[in-house]
Formats: sequence, C-alpha cells, structure tokens
Amino acid sequence: MENNNLQPRDGFSSKLGIIAAAAGSAIGLGNIWKFPYITGRYGGAAFILFYLFCIAIIGLPVMLSEFLIGRRAQKNAIDSFKTLKPNSPWYLTGWLGFVAAVVILSFYGVVAGWTLHYVFLSIANKFVGNTPDQLGAMFGGLVGNPWLPIFWQVIFMGLTAGVILGGVKDGIERYTKILMPLLLVVILILDVRAVTLPGASAGLNFLFKPDFSKLTAEGMMSALGHAFFSLSLGMGTMITYGSYIGKKENLGETALQVTIADTAIALLAGIAIFPAVFAFGVEPGAGPSLVFITLPNVFNQMPGGYIFAIMFFLLLAVAALTSSVSILEVIVAYFTENLGWSRHKATWLATIAITAVGAFESLTNGTINFKLPLYKGGIMHMFGFFDWMIEMSDLLLPIGGLFISLFVGYVMLDKDVKDEVSDSGALSVPWYGLFKILTRYVAPVLIVVTFINMVFGIF
Ligand code: PHE
Repeated sequence: MENNNLQPRDGFSSKLGIIAAAAGSAIGLGNIWKFPYITGRYGGAAFILFYLFCIAIIGLPVMLSEFLIGRRAQKNAIDSFKTLKPNSPWYLTGWLGFVAAVVILSFYGVVAGWTLHYVFLSIANKFVGNTPDQLGAMFGGLVGNPWLPIFWQVIFMGLTAGVILGGVKDGIERYTKILMPLLLVVILILDVRAVTLPGASAGLNFLFKPDFSKLTAEGMMSALGHAFFSLSLGMGTMITYGSYIGKKENLGETALQVTIADTAIALLAGIAIFPAVFAFGVEPGAGPSLVFITLPNVFNQMPGGYIFAIMFFLLLAVAALTSSVSILEVIVAYFTENLGWSRHKATWLATIAITAVGAFESLTNGTINFKLPLYKGGIMHMFGFFDWMIEMSDLLLPIGGLFISLFVGYVMLDKDVKDEVSDSGALSVPWYGLFKILTRYVAPVLIVVTFINMVFGIF
C-alpha cells in the first residue's frame, strides 16, 4: 500500500523497535570499514581518543537534538525546520542533509557491493591458501575491474529500495533486532582470534597507546566528520527517525543507548583488525581496502574460518543495508511528503540516480582517469573521485550538525525542547541545563574550531 499524506505517519511498534532501527542506522560500514581505515591512516590511539571526545561532547547532544526536532515536528528533515520555524531559512539545513544523503549513499552502495562480493568469495572458499599479498591482490582485482563492483553495487541498491518499499515498520525493524546482536557475537569471536595471533601486541599498542604528536589537523577533521557519519548525524536521518518515535519514549535514554552501541562496535572492530594488520604485515594506512585485505588472513588462521567468513561478510552487508535504508528514507520521506510523489516513484528515481553517481565513482577507482578542467584553470583528477566524495561527507555532516545544534540551542522554543526532552514533563531532567550548554556553546564552538584549524593548521 502506498504511504501518502492521507495516512497517519508510520511508526515504530515498540521500544526495542526504535533502538533497533536507530542503532541499525548507526551501525554499518562506518564502524567496521571506515573507522579502522581512518584510524590506520591518522595514526591510531590519539586519533581514537579525539574521536571518542567528539562522540561524547558533540555526537550525543546532536543525536538528542535530531530526535527531538523530528518528534516535535512530525515531519521529514526539511519540513521539520519549516514547521518549527516558519518563514525562515533554517529549512536549508534540511536541504544540506539531502545533499549529504546523496553523496553518502553513492559511495556507500559501492562499498556495500564489495561486501557482497566478499560474501560470494567466502562461500566459494577463495581465501584459503593465499598469502597476505595474494589476498591484497584479490581486492585490487575487484576494484580494478570495471563491471564487477558495479554489478554488486546495483544488487545492493536494489535491496535498499526493496526494504524502503516495504514501509518503515516491517522493512526496518524486523531484521535489525536479531541480526545486529549476532554481528556483535561474530566480531567478539574475531577479537579473540586476533588478539591471540603472534605479534598481536603491536596492533594493541597502536590502538591504545596514544602518541599525540601523530594527531594532525586533518586527522581531527576526519575524526569529527566520522563521529557524525558513524552516528548517522548531521543530515536528518535521526530527525526522520525521531518523527516516527512515540511520544512516550525517552529520547535522551535512546540517544545514549544508540551512541554506546555504535561506539562499542567500532572499537571492537578495531580490536579485530589492528592486531591482524601488524601480524600479517598489512600497511595500516592502506585506506578503504584495509578490512578487506586484513580479515581474510584472520579467517585463514582460525578453526571454522570458512563459516565465520561467510557470517561476517553477510552480517556486514545486512548492517550496511539497515544503514543505507535510513539514508534513502531521508530522501524518500521528502519526495513523498513534500512533492506528493508516490513512494514507488520516489524510491526508484532516487535509487537509480544515486546508483549512477556511485557507479561513476567506482569506475574512478581504477578504470577511468580523466582530468576535469575547473574554473580558473584548476584541474580535478577523476581518479580518486570516490575518496573525494568520502571527504565531502566528512565536511557536510559537521556543517549540518552545527546548524542542528544552533537550532535547538537558540531557535526552538525552550518550552518545546524541554517538553520533548522530558517526555511531556513526565519526569524532570537534571541534565537539561548541561544539554543546553552543549547545544548552545560547546558543540558549535568545537565544530567551528575544528574547521578553522583544518584550514589554518593551528594545532
Ligand atoms: N552510520 C552509518 C554507518 O556507520 C552511515 C550513515 C551515515 C547512515 C549517515 C545514515 C546517515 O555506516
């Protein structure tokens, strides 16, 4: 059945449903693919500490802010701003999120496609008997191939569209509740194997012994951007999900639980990967390939590795799916509620357009490499366009987060904010004052300082 304006908003059926869906959005490739490789690129423990600082001081209050904006307005990300502050440019924040959603989903589908290919390689038992170098070459063979990554990307994007067309409740809630805890179990088992590898301690030192001289301005920007990326913040995902949360739920508690679950999975993924990186002589700064060339070595070195490899990549693909769905939902909610498009039309048009952009990015990973002349004689190398889009998202999300934070801190009526945070006044919230300080001053200042620092290199 079409979900259009005449029907009540689809919602989540239970408390666990909300947490499952929001955690399902947060936990994804960001935790298991992106977090380890940027940690490797920017030097390890010091980067992680700064990342955790961003999560606690900026991420958590922004998540609560997004939830309360959505629940108050009962609208999609763009219309929420129009409802809460009519006749003002604040709705542009929602548009920024719309752009970020397109940017992110385009590369997200490509990486999720690699994951599907690795499910296939695991089932076909292709890792066994290969040296670390050969496993590296196997990944290189995938991304260097023009069509194979696009084939899997198209399948993944089709699955994403399929879940969206199933509606919010049936589509998202059902899968997440069972599969995310299972993913956690598989990662824990990988952790045990990884830390008992000969030479594992170098990886643990890399993860837990901070060397602050390695933390660069670029690394700080990346940590900030990734805090938003990993928690699905700054582009209206959690605004959209907040609009589906029932009035009786406690938003602060939900935000805290999602944040803890997301951060725990990222750290546990790091513990599975870095000991292996050092044990098998993989380059920590290998970039987006890191997980794909490291973990097959671990599977080769553990009893039941065949089964664990299949389970791991399959569950990672599912985790990616519950995230990609939440990105596409931002776009579809807007098209259906604002432009009056049918859910089918909105879903398919968005999916096709974004898949096309992503396919182009995928080709720039090895197949095509032309130079694009820019205004005033600048040149943009198409090779690396994929990485460039990832960096773009690291800039767009904190900007979105800045405006969301300011909106809750200064623009929304204090009474409305209080009402949402305290669940219609049902309980008093001792930390309300702290929340206001974080949204008004701390989060905005830290975001702006990180940007200035990146441009001028102060720290
Ligand atoms: N949080 C998701 C992940 O870590 C990605 C995501 C970003 C989802 C932004 C929604 C919005 O994989």
